[in-house]
Amino acid sequence: MHKDISEILVSQQEIDDICTTLGKQLTKDYEGKNPLLVGLLKGCVPFMSDLSKKIDLKLEQAYMSVSSYHGGISSSGNVNIKMDLDISIQDRDVIIVEDIVDTANTIVTIINLFKHRGAKSVKVATLLDKPAGRTQTYEPEYVGKTIPKAFVVGYGLDFDEYYRNLPYVGILKPEVYKK
Ligand code: PRP
Repeated sequence: MHKDISEILVSQQEIDDICTTLGKQLTKDYEGKNPLLVGLLKGCVPFMSDLSKKIDLKLEQAYMSVSSYHGGISSSGNVNIKMDLDISIQDRDVIIVEDIVDTANTIVTIINLFKHRGAKSVKVATLLDKPAGRTQTYEPEYVGKTIPKAFVVGYGLDFDEYYRNLPYVGILKPEVYKK
């Protein structure tokens, strides 16, 4: 385990099992459809990669870069689109792929944007859900694991752009971000 991590919250094996389970569920729920997976960069990258391989459907993948943290440990509340989609979502069944839903500011903003752009349906698959962090009522449709209110990094999640490459999700030692 990395020296800056106090506890592993979601192990590599558990992440693998989550991808298999959610992949099977999405395959069933979207049978006969041609969904568009939209990953919200950068945190989504490992999950998008592993989850998409477990979905047995004809599907497309696209990315959008949004940010609300600006390097800190809590959401700023403002969601910035840094890079937009390169594909139309009009009349598409969109599945947004996220690493974590915390305050839900990011996801609710993007869902509203996609509906405004004419998506046929918009649902969310998130590896982690942290309901204790919510500042508004929102529940994602597909959740890998519900976690307590702790600052987590790894498997796409960062602190100041570091730790995204850890193969598991772990709790960052407070002394690291309180420095
Ligand atoms: C993180 C994460 C989600 C969002 C969740 O992204 O990937 O998109 O914050 O937080 P919220 O529910 O409070 O809005 P971030 O803005 O840190 O960008 P990143 O994916 O590039 O790390």
